[in-house]
Amino acid sequence: TIEHSLRPTTLNQYIGQHKVKENLSVFIQAAKMREEPLDHVLLYGPPGLGKTTLAAIIANEMGVQFRSTSGPAIERAGDLAAILSSLEPGDVLFIDEVHRLPRAVEEVLYSAMEDFFIDIVIGTGPSARSVRIDLPPFTLVGATTRAGLLTAPLRDRFGVLSRLEFYETQDLCLIVERTAEIFHTSISKEAAMEVARRSRGTPRIANRLLKRIRDISQVKGEEEISIGSTDKALSMLQVDHVGLDHTDHKLIKGIIDSFNGGPVGLETIAATIGEEAQTIEDVYEPYLLQIGFIQRTPRGRIVTQKAYAHFGLKGHEES
Ligand code: ADE
Repeated sequence: TIEHSLRPTTLNQYIGQHKVKENLSVFIQAAKMREEPLDHVLLYGPPGLGKTTLAAIIANEMGVQFRSTSGPAIERAGDLAAILSSLEPGDVLFIDEVHRLPRAVEEVLYSAMEDFFIDIVIGTGPSARSVRIDLPPFTLVGATTRAGLLTAPLRDRFGVLSRLEFYETQDLCLIVERTAEIFHTSISKEAAMEVARRSRGTPRIANRLLKRIRDISQVKGEEEISIGSTDKALSMLQVDHVGLDHTDHKLIKGIIDSFNGGPVGLETIAATIGEEAQTIEDVYEPYLLQIGFIQRTPRGRIVTQKAYAHFGLKGHEES
């Protein structure tokens, strides 16, 4: 798919996340020198920042197979046993949403991660017995939105913990220009910067917006994507000047209109605007916290003066 071909395949091609890349490149180099598999890696951070891409890059850089699954997809210990015993030495097993592994599966993973074996109980009642299965050494790369969602025993078994951050505008601009090149499309510097500024620090959003902007530009018959088409497309897509979308607006306006700016609890605001609490917490809040539009207090979420000003409203401290 197009989506797939957009993904960089080496650390060198991967833009941004400078600290994470610098660390991983040393750990990968050392593991290769010792001819050992890389230690288990936990990647955490908001969605769309490139956790899956990095996991695939780790496998590619190590020169091993990349196997990919997710926490909710592994329903029983037997499913995990089947995956683990089919790995080849050194392979990378990527588990997305690793915090959503069923408890019984997670417990089997402990010995697999620590000592490369699993104990599987076969049969039930008096004839039940435990069988030990030795595994090839492998690297688990787990991904989650927040490290705190993992149980302590699982978190403790990762040797490398890397937090992905929202991208700098400069880095996002490079990503937009790289994607445009893959699309065989030219884009003005000004337009690329505008997409970067309005993508919530998130490559997945930048690339999605770029596809729609390209549509508008193409229909207009432009040779190069202009700032004009970019602006028009973003306003059609209801993306405002700092990159906030319809749902961000609903969230902030909900707290302002129904709770006088807060504080209000997450579940209460979720019910009011009709979104899942978990989605608000994982997808919408992190960026709004980062740009200082909302704050978390012991009594709940509050909308800041900065957010009031963005909407052309006065907050209560000023009124
Ligand atoms: N496409 C999406 N994310 C990217 C990144 N971090 N580097 C290069 N290309 C990307």
